[in-house]
Amino acid sequence: MKDLLPPPVVLLTAPIGACQGELFPEEHEPIERAVEKRRREFTAGRVLARRALEQLGRPPVAIPTGSQRQPVWPDGVVGSIAHTNTLCAVALSDDPALLGLGIDMEPAEALPDGVLRRVCRPEERDWLAAQPPEDRALLERLFFCAKEAVFKCTYPRAEVWFGFEDATVQLDTEAQHFEAQLHLAASEDALPGVLRGRIAHAEGHVWAATVWRDQAASR
Ligand SMILES: CC(C)(COP(=O)(O)OP(=O)(O)OC[C@H]1O[C@@H](n2cnc3c(N)ncnc32)[C@H](O)[C@@H]1OP(=O)(O)O)[C@@H](O)C(=O)NCCC(=O)NCCS
Repeated sequence: MKDLLPPPVVLLTAPIGACQGELFPEEHEPIERAVEKRRREFTAGRVLARRALEQLGRPPVAIPTGSQRQPVWPDGVVGSIAHTNTLCAVALSDDPALLGLGIDMEPAEALPDGVLRRVCRPEERDWLAAQPPEDRALLERLFFCAKEAVFKCTYPRAEVWFGFEDATVQLDTEAQHFEAQLHLAASEDALPGVLRGRIAHAEGHVWAATVWRDQAASR
């Protein structure tokens, strides 16, 4: 999984049961009325995030939740959290050239009935229809996964909410890359027009990760 987001990103994954521990007082509010499963996945994200902060040489601080559920990272840090029923993943970096990071993982199986039409645009469904039938279940899940990673990458900085229909994703399974083009009026200023990322299929999950680079910093 390390290839998904190589340094300067710290990427940690662990079973949810292996990263339970104490929360900071300001982290309790989002899960006050949550069921046990949700409390455990939320806790795993915070505990794993503090392990990642430690790897960046940073102190273990609270990671509050923003009004749209986004994690609020310490100043100078960008990151992303994902969980499934069994696994938790956290990606973090304090590289000033990065404006955002997004990671998502999903069970490696077809989307539930009816969801594909909401997730994929017509041109994406045409591409899927041309793929070998035995590959389609994973590919449709990868579209979903890549789009969620793009949203998680951009939202904390841009604070622009957009839907699955607002992004066109191209998957390159051989190179294990994807490219997402955002079709939004706001994309000229608040959002990147295009984001590139990596995809993978491992540990019974499909994975997608993307990095939003500050183009001005790389000139
Ligand atoms: C927010 C969303 C992406 C979360 O994905 P999910 O599959 O439900 O859950 P995951 O386990 O993968 O990720 C959950 C984590 O995402 C993070 N997250 C939630 N909302 C977020 C946001 N607005 N911005 C950034 N990260 C967010 C949180 O860390 C959350 O974990 P936590 O609540 O324990 O801290 C999803 O629920 C959603 O609302 N999607 C609609 C928007 C979208 O994806 N548009 C597609 C654009 S192409």
